[in-house]
Amino acid sequence: MARQLTPGSRLVLASHNPGKLKEIIALLGSHQVDVVSAGGLGLPEPEETEPDFAGNARLKAVAAATASGLPSLADDSGFCVAALDGAPGVVSARWAGPNKDFGAAMGRVHRELGTATDKRAWFISVLALAWPDGHVELFEGRIDGHVVWPPRGLHGFGYDPMFAPEGAAKTYGEMDAADKKATSHRARAFAKLLDACFT
Ligand code: IMP
Repeated sequence: MARQLTPGSRLVLASHNPGKLKEIIALLGSHQVDVVSAGGLGLPEPEETEPDFAGNARLKAVAAATASGLPSLADDSGFCVAALDGAPGVVSARWAGPNKDFGAAMGRVHRELGTATDKRAWFISVLALAWPDGHVELFEGRIDGHVVWPPRGLHGFGYDPMFAPEGAAKTYGEMDAADKKATSHRARAFAKLLDACFT
C-alpha cells in the first residue's frame, strides 16, 4: 500500500511553473491539504539532470522535501512527438529557451516535423510525492492526440495550442480548464495519486 497523506497535512508543490501550479491546485481540489509552493518558501529550483520524467520528478520532489522537512509533490512532464522520436520530451521546457518563449518552441516542433505526415503526439506527466525521510511514490499519466498547426487558442500553457487530444476538435489551448482536466496527462496521473495516497 502506498504511503498515505493525512488530511490537514502541509504539502509543498515543488514547481516554479505558474501554469502547472494552477492546474495542480485545482486537481487537489477539496482534498484537505494545506498547500504551499516551493517558490513561496524560497526554495531554489533544482537543475533537471535526469534522462527521464520519473528521474526528474523524483529529483525535484526529494529536493523540496529535504529542504522544507515537509511532504512535497513534483510534476515532470513534457510534449512528445512521434515523428521526432518523442522529442522534445524531457527537454520540453528547454526548447522554449531562457525567455520561456513557447511560440518559438512550437515553431521549432513545426519546423522539425517538416513534411512528415505522422502527426501523432502525446503529453506525459509523472508525479512524485516525496517525504523528508526519503520515501517516494511515483504516478504516471499520458494523453494521446496529434499536432495541430498553426497553434490555436489562448488557454493553458506551454504546447497546449498545438495539441488536440484523440477525438477532440479543439486544442488544449482552446479548451477551458475543466475540459482539459477531463482528459489531461496531469489529471490522469493525479487520479492515480489521489486513489493511492489519500485515505
Ligand atoms: P518540466 O516538467 O518543468 O521539465 O517542464 C515541462 C514542460 O513540458 C512545460 O514547460 C511545458 O512546456 C510542457 N508541458 C508539460 N505539461 C504541459 C501541458 O499540460 N500543456 C502544455 N505544455 C506542457
